[in-house]
Amino acid sequence: MAAGMVFAALAFGAATLVEVNVVKTVVEPAPAEQCLLQVFNLAEGNINVGVAGSDLFQDPIPKLQDPPAYETLPLGAPVKELNIDVTFSESKHTCRHTFEEQKAYSLIIYTDITGINCKLVEDYIKKDESGNPNVRFFNTRTEAINITVGETLFYVPPDHSMSPNKSVTRGNYPSVGCSLLSKTCDNLNLGLLDFGASYTFILMEVKVLL
Ligand SMILES: *[C@@H]1O[C@H](CO)[C@@H](O)[C@H](O)[C@H]1NC(C)=O
Ligand SMILES: *[C@@H]1O[C@H](CO)[C@@H](O)[C@H](O)[C@H]1NC(C)=O
Repeated sequence: MAAGMVFAALAFGAATLVEVNVVKTVVEPAPAEQCLLQVFNLAEGNINVGVAGSDLFQDPIPKLQDPPAYETLPLGAPVKELNIDVTFSESKHTCRHTFEEQKAYSLIIYTDITGINCKLVEDYIKKDESGNPNVRFFNTRTEAINITVGETLFYVPPDHSMSPNKSVTRGNYPSVGCSLLSKTCDNLNLGLLDFGASYTFILMEVKVLL
């Protein structure tokens, strides 16, 4: 009995979800010639990140850690392209991204068959006037996923893409609809989406180790 139920759960576990970033406090935008940056590590272990011209991220960044806070990145110009060195296990990769002053960014690090990859997304740090929580999803799968939170549909593009952020009604969401073309997708438990907070959920495939 018990084994059968576990098997069913695994068979239908097409997507699992990890809440990586919750921002509850008001984030003040960076001053002129600076921007805000945080790092999400989706690699299978600690990574080290070095941003050219700064001494940010001295400590290794653990896998799936909710970044403790934004770091202020000096640009020395309104717009600046910077090299970012990422080290994971024995490999090192340099990404290059353009940053604009006063914006806030998340740098998402993941690995695939090509090695280490970086994805820079812009973050929306302005609070919704009504205090409604702000939600977005990042899809690590190779297939698009639709997620329905209350009345709000999120289309989450495939291959390490972030959905647009949307505001949803505050509340508890123990079972939101999830839809994939190729297979069934269990409803997902987002838990409490709280007043004035913003959430980034990572959608990952369940890895079954037998
Ligand atoms: C986030 O959502 C707001 C409100 O819908 C929108 O104005 C803003 O452009 C979005 N920002 C990003 C970075 O997606
Ligand atoms: C997601 O929603 C869009 C728009 O409603 C629809 O065209 C698409 O087929 C849906 N995709 C999946 C995987 O359910």
